[in-house]
Amino acid sequence: MTESSGPGPSRLLIPLSVPHLTGHETEALERAVSTNWIASVGPEVDQFEEEFAEKLSVSRALATTSGTAAIHLALRVLGVGPGDDVLVSTFTFCASVNPILYLGATPVFVDAEERSWNMEPALLEEELDRRGREGRLPAAVVVVHIYGQPADMTPILRACRRWSVPIVEDAAEALGAEHRSPEGTRQAAGTLGDLGIFSFDGSKMITTSMGGMLVSDRSELIDHARKLARQAREPVAHYQHEEIGYNYRMSNLLAGVGRVQLRVLDRRVEQRRNVFNRYRTLLEDTMGLTFQPEAPWSMHARWLTCVLLSPEVIGGGPEAVRMHLHEHGIETRPVWKPMHRQPVYERLGLTSVRGDVADRLYETGLCLPSSSSLTDEEITRVASTLRTFLHHD
Ligand SMILES: Cc1ncc(COP(=O)(O)O)c(C=O)c1O
Repeated sequence: MTESSGPGPSRLLIPLSVPHLTGHETEALERAVSTNWIASVGPEVDQFEEEFAEKLSVSRALATTSGTAAIHLALRVLGVGPGDDVLVSTFTFCASVNPILYLGATPVFVDAEERSWNMEPALLEEELDRRGREGRLPAAVVVVHIYGQPADMTPILRACRRWSVPIVEDAAEALGAEHRSPEGTRQAAGTLGDLGIFSFDGSKMITTSMGGMLVSDRSELIDHARKLARQAREPVAHYQHEEIGYNYRMSNLLAGVGRVQLRVLDRRVEQRRNVFNRYRTLLEDTMGLTFQPEAPWSMHARWLTCVLLSPEVIGGGPEAVRMHLHEHGIETRPVWKPMHRQPVYERLGLTSVRGDVADRLYETGLCLPSSSSLTDEEITRVASTLRTFLHHD
């Protein structure tokens, strides 16, 4: 299979993460156009959903316009609404949080742990136990698998099940990652909770330009989400609506692209992990630099390779490093600014359960270029530019 990666949206020489096409996407687009299946229903959507569910060993899947739409649908079918609290990882992108607010519910942020950078299970357990005793349980928990690494789902599932609180896994960044239970059971990240979501935006593990997927083993939830994603039209010939829906269905054109991309998912995981391994070889003895660890329960998809730069080495924070690399044609990005520090949520008076681990990650973290199409020469250039700056050679 010949592969080509487009220049991507960035004009920088080495961008952070760009779409990686296989060369076969045009055939899928032509097939959809020549058969006139270019709307939001069609055989490609059906097959993409079936193939995705099969690949991840989950019962059902629903293709959506975006990962954000999939989170919105997940929370809606769980019955989240005004007056509810939803616990959510603070170390994430705002798309994990906004759908909670779309539904009139209140996000409560939970801190990360150093081992994985994901939600700290002990903290979640404590908070659920406290709320359970006080009769103030949240309507759901949104657990994020950040940068491609699964959260520690065994204790998280145990804590949530004790109080019958449903879990939505935000696996937008973690398609292809695997979670291993202490008994050795391997499951795709995003398939352990009540519902899981994925994103296919241009930077992700695979792409449909824009798009997402909602998955679950609970058929009734996917059936309801499917109806809501089509403006909640009742199954009658005249247009009848008994609840408020959304226009969240994926186009048949994009689903064709998704099917082609899904076929190379294993390869994309391998390529991203190779990018990480190469950086590690080139940078592991660099003073003051550490990588996001791969936790014992996780096969990390390494969507992005992220490093922490100790304040002793970088002084004023990672921004000077980012600017230096930018001047050398290399795009890097600060790690996610924690949600409890976002002005928009601070203004709403939202609360958080601790937050200092996420704060420390933000103050010292940087994401390196991680496209699956990166060449060895490019990785070497990033590593040597970074080393030179850190050592002031
Ligand atoms: C953690 C996380 N959640 C949700 C999303 C939302 O996905 P989308 O951009 O497809 O709406 C993204 C990516 O954009 C993300 O990184």
